[in-house]
Amino acid sequence: MGSNNKLGKEISLGHLNYRRTPIEKESPEEYGYEKIKYNLAESSVPDAVFGDLEIDLSSSVLSYADHLGNLELRQSIASEGEGIKPDNILITTGAAGALFIIATSLLKPSDHVVLLHPNYVANIETPRAIGCQVDYLMLSFEEQFKLDLEKLAQLIKPNTRLISLTYPQNPTGTILTRSELEEIITIIESKGCYLLLDETYRDMASNPPPIAASLSPQAISVSSFSKAYGLPGIRSGWLINQNPTLIERFLAAKELIFICNSIIDESIATHFYINKKIQFLKDIQTHVNKNFMLLKGWMEKNEFIEWIEPQGGCICFPRIRKNINLDIDSFYMVLKKKYKTFVAPGHWFEVNKRFMRLGFGYPSNTELKGGLQCITNALEDSIIS
Ligand SMILES: Cc1ncc(COP(=O)(O)O)c(C=O)c1O
Repeated sequence: MGSNNKLGKEISLGHLNYRRTPIEKESPEEYGYEKIKYNLAESSVPDAVFGDLEIDLSSSVLSYADHLGNLELRQSIASEGEGIKPDNILITTGAAGALFIIATSLLKPSDHVVLLHPNYVANIETPRAIGCQVDYLMLSFEEQFKLDLEKLAQLIKPNTRLISLTYPQNPTGTILTRSELEEIITIIESKGCYLLLDETYRDMASNPPPIAASLSPQAISVSSFSKAYGLPGIRSGWLINQNPTLIERFLAAKELIFICNSIIDESIATHFYINKKIQFLKDIQTHVNKNFMLLKGWMEKNEFIEWIEPQGGCICFPRIRKNINLDIDSFYMVLKKKYKTFVAPGHWFEVNKRFMRLGFGYPSNTELKGGLQCITNALEDSIIS
C-alpha cells in the first residue's frame, strides 16, 4: 500500500487504510463556525456552556485516571441497564473512540461485516480501513428507511464477525423497537457473531428498547455525551459489554491509544451525568420538540422536499422531490455562500446529493426558521425551468 509524497515519491503506508471522509473534511468546524449563519448540519443539540454546568475544578489533581474510567460514572451508567456492572463499561474518548477500539480489537481483514447504510461514518469506514469484507444493509426511502430483518439474516456468512447498527439512526432518525432488538439478539446468538449497536441518540428517544449489551454478552453498546447532551467538547463516551475477555481486550486497546481519559473531561462527564443530566435533558427535549414541530410544519407544506418523519433523535434525512429539476451542486453552493446555511449533503453519507440530513436539535427556533427559509430560497435559485 502506498501514496505519493510532495516529490512524487512513493511513501509506504501502514496496514490500516485511513482516509479523511467528506463528512469530516467539510464539517462546520473545519469550514469555520464563524462563516455559518444557520447551522442545520449538526447532528446534536446546542453545545453546552461550561459555566452552566456549575462545577469547580480548581482543586483537581491532574493525574492519570482509572483506566476503565471513573468508577462513579461507570456505576451511574451501569444502573441504567439490567444486569450491567461497572466493570462491563469502558469510558472512551467519545463514541468515536469506542467505535475505533471495538472495530480494531475484533476485526481482521478476513472477517465479514454487515453494516447498516447510510450510517455514521466511523461505523462504516473503520471496518473498511481494516480491509474487512463488507456487505451493506441498505435503508431505502421507498421503504420508509425500515430495517429489514430477513435481509439482515440473509447477509450473514460463515465468516461474519460483526453486525453494526446505529439506533436511533443517523442520518434517518428512525428507531428500533424492543421486539426488533430481541430478534436481532436471537439472530446474532444463533449465528455466533457480535452486534455493535451505536446507541449515541438513545437518550433522545421517548421509549427506547433496553441497552443492547444488557441482553447478550455478544452485544456491544456504544454511547456518548456529545449528541443528546451537547457536550462534544469533553470527548467522552463509553462502550458496554458483559464479556470480561472482550472488555479486557478493549481496555488493552484503550491503554495503547491513550491510557486513560483526561481527568478534567472525566470529572465534567461524571458531574454532569450524576447531577445535571435530568435537568438538562428536560430543557433539551422541550427545545427539540418545539423545533421538530416547526420543521414538520415546513415539511408538510413543502413542494420541493419530501421526508420520512423521524421518530427519535434530532436529525432527519429528507430528499428533493424527483420532479424538481435543479443543478444540485449550484444549490449547495448558493445555500452555503449566499445564504450562509449549512446542511449535511447526501454525499457525506455516500448517497445521492438530493438527500440532505437536517439537524433540528442544534439551532435555536429562530435559526431553524431562518435556515429552512434559506433552503427554500436556494432551491428556487437553482431550479432549472
Ligand atoms: C451515531 C454516532 N455515533 C458516534 C458519533 C461520534 O460521536 P462522539 O465521538 O462525539 O461521541 C456520532 C457523531 O456524529 C454519531 O452520530
